[in-house]
Amino acid sequence: MTFQARPEQGHFITFEGGEGVGKSTQLARLAEHLRDCGLEVATTREPGGTPKAEKLRRFLLSGRAAPLGALAEAVLFSAARADHVETLIAPVLKRGGWVLCDRFADSTRAYQGAQGGVDARTLALLERAAVGDTRPDLTIILDLPAREGLARAAARRNSGEALDRFERETPAFHEALRQAFLDIAESEPERCCVIDAARSVDDVARAVRAIVHDRFLAHAAQAAQ
Ligand code: TMP
Repeated sequence: MTFQARPEQGHFITFEGGEGVGKSTQLARLAEHLRDCGLEVATTREPGGTPKAEKLRRFLLSGRAAPLGALAEAVLFSAARADHVETLIAPVLKRGGWVLCDRFADSTRAYQGAQGGVDARTLALLERAAVGDTRPDLTIILDLPAREGLARAAARRNSGEALDRFERETPAFHEALRQAFLDIAESEPERCCVIDAARSVDDVARAVRAIVHDRFLAHAAQAAQ
């Protein structure tokens, strides 16, 4: 089936949630589905997605920025985001493509805000500076008990591979993080959809597709008739 998306305006979908909830897998599944529908899809991740942002990713996830404090980390995540938006995300959206991004500004709100203690007004200013008007049309929040997510992340890791800066945090940190994402979803219900990620990969993929069809493609198909 080929859909005609709004040609002049792309669609920006972000995937959020704690560690090991299956964001990358679900993002790849949705990308494959949308490409099968004949749509242009760019897949990317944060921190990262561009050479400059990937450099910042290595620095941030190594833990070398942690002693500088959560505000400094928030600034660095935002700097990576600004380059990512300007260089990759905004140009794809401008030409009518779809962007699927593994984490975005909600991760800064949850990790550096709710968990790191950086106040919401400061984060809102950083977010505004980094993204401008390039905000997600839809955010899929994959929800899973933290313990289960951490176990999945551990099972996936190659033996000998070190834990990153945030994987090293306590189970209590990760459980609070889960709540922080649920709070974001509750505060912006028109943008965010929470999906129970404890179900099978296929079931979650079906749920994601249903939301995307409902939000964007049903509308596009009707408009094309
Ligand atoms: P991941 O790509 O494996 O999810 O790793 C990214 C890590 O960085 C993850 O632990 C969440 C964290 N992070 C933040 O703390 N703030 C942010 O703004 C972003 C994008 C990620």
